[in-house]
Amino acid sequence: MDEKLTRFVQAQRPVLNQFLEDQLTRDVAQPTLARSMSYSLLAGGKRLRPLLYLATIFSFDQSVDLTQELPIAGAIELIHTYSLIHDDLPAMDNDDYRRGRLTNHKKFGEAMAILAGDGLLTLAFEWVAKSPVDPLVLSEMIRVLAQASGPSGMVAGQAIDIEQTGHPLHELAAIQQLDALKTGRLLTAPLQMASIKLKLDERLRQALVEFGQHFGVAFQIYDDLLDLTSTRAAQGKQVHKDEAAGKNTYPELLGIPQARQQLQTELDQAHLSLTAVTEGTSFNPELLLSFLSYFDEERES
Ligand code: IPE
Ligand code: IPE
Ligand code: MG
Ligand code: MG
Ligand code: MG
Repeated sequence: MDEKLTRFVQAQRPVLNQFLEDQLTRDVAQPTLARSMSYSLLAGGKRLRPLLYLATIFSFDQSVDLTQELPIAGAIELIHTYSLIHDDLPAMDNDDYRRGRLTNHKKFGEAMAILAGDGLLTLAFEWVAKSPVDPLVLSEMIRVLAQASGPSGMVAGQAIDIEQTGHPLHELAAIQQLDALKTGRLLTAPLQMASIKLKLDERLRQALVEFGQHFGVAFQIYDDLLDLTSTRAAQGKQVHKDEAAGKNTYPELLGIPQARQQLQTELDQAHLSLTAVTEGTSFNPELLLSFLSYFDEERES
């Protein structure tokens, strides 16, 4: 991560983490459910999706009070955490470690893990719905979040992932589509939701969507590369699993060097989508562009 991103993350992540902890304590009364939901939510996690939301708002208005944006940013993290709990279940990827600790079902049992996921997903929509935002703006934000996370977004991607496990996809476009849905949509949602909140014009919205889509696909390629090249200690989750599990990934189809090239192509496209639209706007793309330095480790290796 470059200096700009590091500074932003160090300033905003603790605020976000504190908000998540306080709000979850207020909103979940059932003791086991509260423990199970906070176990996964407060286990760490890079918080990239909520940080992307805050960064987009900040890129247009540097005087904004970002703490007012926390319920919306936090809601996106709730949905992401739910998706991880369910992704790790024995019926799905069957993983034992996540965010440096045992997976939710290993700790609380499958039934409670499913319910913790259900709780995080629905609570997310409560947080967004309660935000003091113009109702028309709010309903559009809710629609975008639902479409990104639900059966036309992440859930559809997970369905393809599961259905195709052990059945290799031979077309790069098919794997790109899989990654765009299961990972790209939830990484694009923060940029879309911020665009709606900021009432940006269509040209800027489209540019931010394109940035999110390329960032999202890059993110999954990177995750798939890390499965091959990294360690459990570094990632906080089991690695060296995708190949034996029969997962469809860029490195599986293309090999590591070409997967790295595809990652770079996505990053170049992400860069281009923001730099093309800045003229005549109050948009400073530097902070969002600094998110591309998240991938430096793999690029330099
Ligand atoms: C992991 O997401 C799941 C993928 C989409 C690859 P992250 O790598 O953002 O996981 P956390 O939130 O930091 O744990
Ligand atoms: C993305 O893919 C997971 C979700 C969309 C929740 P993976 O299954 O590769 O994610 P990890 O490697 O378990 O974090
Ligand atoms: Mg998976
Ligand atoms: Mg998984
Ligand atoms: Mg993975």
